[in-house]
Amino acid sequence: MKDLFVLNKYLLRYKGRLIIGTICVVLSNYFKALVPLEIGEALDFIVLKVSDMKEQGTQSSDFSAEMGGDLFTFGLTVLFYALVMGIFMYFMRQTIIYNSRLIEYDLRKDIYEHYQNLDVSFYKKHNTGDLMARITEDVSKVRMYLGPAVLYGINLTSLFVMVIYSMIKINPTLSFYTLLPLPLLSLSIYMVSSVINKKSEAIQRQLSSLNSFAQEVYSGIHVIKSYVKEGAFGKAFDEESEIFKEKSLELAKVNAMFYPLMILLVSVSTILTVVVGGIQVSKGLATPGNIAQFIIYVNMLTWPVTAIGWIASIIQQASASMQRINEFQAVTPAIENDNEAVYDVQGEIEFRDVSFTYPNSGIQALSNISFKVSSGQKLIILGKTASGKSTIAELLLRMYDVSSGQILIDGRDIKEHNLNSIRKSIGYVPQDVFLFSDTATKNVQFGNDAATFAEVQEYTDYAAVRDDIESLPEQFETRIGERGVTLSGGQKQRMSIARALIKKPQIVILDDCLSAVDTTTEQKILQYLKRSLVEKSAIIITHRIMSGFDVDQIIVLEDGKMAEKGTPSELYAQKGFYFDMLNEQKEEKQLKSA
Ligand SMILES: Nc1ncnc2c1ncn2[C@@H]1O[C@H](COP(=O)(O)OP(=O)(O)OP(=O)(O)O)[C@@H](O)[C@H]1O
Ligand SMILES: [Mg+2]
Repeated sequence: MKDLFVLNKYLLRYKGRLIIGTICVVLSNYFKALVPLEIGEALDFIVLKVSDMKEQGTQSSDFSAEMGGDLFTFGLTVLFYALVMGIFMYFMRQTIIYNSRLIEYDLRKDIYEHYQNLDVSFYKKHNTGDLMARITEDVSKVRMYLGPAVLYGINLTSLFVMVIYSMIKINPTLSFYTLLPLPLLSLSIYMVSSVINKKSEAIQRQLSSLNSFAQEVYSGIHVIKSYVKEGAFGKAFDEESEIFKEKSLELAKVNAMFYPLMILLVSVSTILTVVVGGIQVSKGLATPGNIAQFIIYVNMLTWPVTAIGWIASIIQQASASMQRINEFQAVTPAIENDNEAVYDVQGEIEFRDVSFTYPNSGIQALSNISFKVSSGQKLIILGKTASGKSTIAELLLRMYDVSSGQILIDGRDIKEHNLNSIRKSIGYVPQDVFLFSDTATKNVQFGNDAATFAEVQEYTDYAAVRDDIESLPEQFETRIGERGVTLSGGQKQRMSIARALIKKPQIVILDDCLSAVDTTTEQKILQYLKRSLVEKSAIIITHRIMSGFDVDQIIVLEDGKMAEKGTPSELYAQKGFYFDMLNEQKEEKQLKSA
């Protein structure tokens, strides 16, 4: 339950509506409790009048003429009560259920904002499905508590108080017998609901595993088809579905018991009312109208008593969901920005004895790396796969903080900088290209919202992707990504380059961004880069040494350690990795031209 306390601040935010809602509930129940009184009186009136008239020898065909007017008044009164009750009922839903929707919106917005502030290692630790489930399903379950559970909780309490008060006022003994089976009803319904709940949760879990299974199949459909594994996956899906079916059938069985049980216990109450009431009438302790009143009251109480079990289960579920939500809300971002100052970054970069271990996997990706790139210089990072090259880019963007050592930008520790200024001043082309499902223009403008269409054209030209875009069905307005045109690997890379450069950043980081681009196109892009990067610092991670591009410094990584470092001619003289790589490339070229 205490997990739900977090929600009190939201409830307080909308307390006005909650108070009005509560008043409406109470008033609606007040009028509801008046109805049986009126009906009981009407019945007693009829019994009395009929026996009176019989004594006076009135013909039974004249009864209606004698009583018609009075009965009509009774009927109108009941109708009036029902009408007023209905009006208040409308307003109680309009206030309390309405509130729950407002709070649901606020809560979801808060969770979303919090998620966005969390660092990437958080996202690596938790899968997307889990994050999504907490912001959608769990929030909906919490809303069930804020809306229906609160509403019916208030409703039930006030109806209980009023009905039982009226019953005791009319006849305490009869009340005792009539109400006797109700605690039992409540308890058994609570027990059945708990079983239902457990089974529903198991079904829910099975459904989400079914969902993730299907999701993975659809995202990997290419691989599955090419390996002709449809059959195997179909079988696995059948098995999962079978479990789901069995669980659902079990639930259906328990559900089927629910209503018969409820009706059984209510019938016991009704029978007790009639039997005990009958005895009391014969002794002159009660009137026949009282029996009618009590039967209506018992039926009025049936629903709230059933609802106790239902509300309890909603609260249980909401509290489990809220616990899951709270768990993520309590996570503090590992990367925080303490500096709000606005300034320009010059672009001097220095790694001082930097070591880094990925917090989620415990893999040490870098050890004791030191280098310095003065503003305007170009650095090339070479190295075998998994040697830690991309990790350097991640650290510069401060996606993670170093485990030891220091990264300095413009001579100041990266942790003391305004994180947003640093990220804004870096044009980053990641190794894994990600484009949004939006138009080509929008994807490029993602780098710079203020960019005009002319600029978008200009920068796609620089990235040698303009012709590709213009040959798409709707040119720059073509939707790309999911549900749109699929671009080739090389086209995506060049889109990503255009997106990074249109930022006009002070620092450029290109991570293997020309791997899927042919040599002619590569030359075209390099020519542009050569011109545009004149005064900018650049870190270029590559598997291929690019000709015709002036480089100030090269570092070679090996297993996260610095293997070679120096100017191109220094490294050439060292006859190490760089030397071998250059020679290999030369041989390839000769082979091709031969
Ligand atoms: N997000 C991550 N979480 C955990 N470990 C990671 C993560 N990213 C990379 N690693 C590990 O860190 C090491 C260095 O990876 P990195 O991506 O920096 O290599 P790389 O030199 O860029 O390789 P490639 O040339 O294949 O791109 C690898 O052993 C890798 O498994
Ligand atoms: Mg990499």
